[in-house]
Amino acid sequence: MKAAALTLLAGSALALLGGTALADDALVARGDYLVNGPVACGSCHTPLGPDFKPIADKTLAGGFHFDEMAFNSYSANITPDKETGIGNWTDEEIIHAIREGAQKDGRIIFPPMPVPTYNNMSDDDVKAIVAYLRTVKPVKNAVPLAKYNIPQQTMPPAKGLPAPPKTDKVAYGGYIVNALGHCFECHTTPGANGIPDFAGHLGAGGFEIKLGPGMSVMTANITSDKETGIGDWTDAEINRAITQGIGRDGKPLAPPMAYAYYKNMTDEDVDAVVAYLRTLKPISNKVEPTAFQQKAFP
Ligand code: HEC
Ligand code: HEC
Repeated sequence: MKAAALTLLAGSALALLGGTALADDALVARGDYLVNGPVACGSCHTPLGPDFKPIADKTLAGGFHFDEMAFNSYSANITPDKETGIGNWTDEEIIHAIREGAQKDGRIIFPPMPVPTYNNMSDDDVKAIVAYLRTVKPVKNAVPLAKYNIPQQTMPPAKGLPAPPKTDKVAYGGYIVNALGHCFECHTTPGANGIPDFAGHLGAGGFEIKLGPGMSVMTANITSDKETGIGDWTDAEINRAITQGIGRDGKPLAPPMAYAYYKNMTDEDVDAVVAYLRTLKPISNKVEPTAFQQKAFP
């Protein structure tokens, strides 16, 4: 994804010289980086094959099934197909779905879409994502309607504040984790009600994700606790876990973390994430991996 970053720079430099077409190129390049890197929309919106790898000709075409107690839903088709995707939606409608969590017709579309995270996304980044989604190949794929067994509520109107400057590494890393990636939705311990306990157990892991019958994984403790978290890991080890899906012992980590997308993140952005993770309050919480999780993953 370095190439995208370069295009982005070149695009914005040229845009200053004139013409909105070039500014649009820069926007699309930024959206491409976000969607295929830290935000990883495809980790839910592109269905996986039996090998847990994204199905190439279904990119962003939806249909990934979530079968939980609280909801039974399928990720939506977010390609520009006019009948089964979002080709007929306006930019504002798509932005509202991403950051506040409602469909065109008002139907609320989360959980599991990490709308509370995206509510913190800057105006520039959400516009870049929409600009990029307009350029992907339309795929015809009708997806069944979701059923929710819990009350749902949209998020308040997004503030759309600009992202912190990259020179403030910890703050920018915090923006990636809390507005773009949705690390804590997976990595936070659930409270008694089954909802992540962000106030008391942020990043402490131990959330069980069911991937199928007999296939579930427990998320890792990514706080800076030295014994049960990643406080003792080197920066390079954390970087490798995020971008290559390789654990401290050198073995591949289990799905479904979006390693295939995070590998496209720039070194600068991964460094910022690691710097931010180091600032997390250490929480002692020993996570026992499931038997499935201890299998070998190719
Ligand atoms: C953790 C999974 C997950 C992630 C990550 C995710 N989504 Fe979704 N999204 C869903 C699900 C599931 C639905 C369908 C919910 C429903 O039908 O009620 C959905 C619905 C949508 C819709 C509404 C479309 C429609 O026809 O109803 C849009 C637009 C959308 N997502 C865009 C995105 C974008 C853009 C990203 C990345 C910035 C993203 N989503 C990331 C799970 C996810
Ligand atoms: C969809 C859920 C999900 C998301 C989103 C997610 N992770 Fe993970 N992550 C996991 C699971 C599950 C594991 C454990 C894998 C294993 O043990 O084989 C893991 C493991 C890790 C590890 C290795 C720790 C260890 O002890 O093995 C790190 C570091 C990590 N995640 C950081 C992150 C960061 C940073 C983000 C956001 C950019 C993130 N994760 C997003 C599910 C997720």
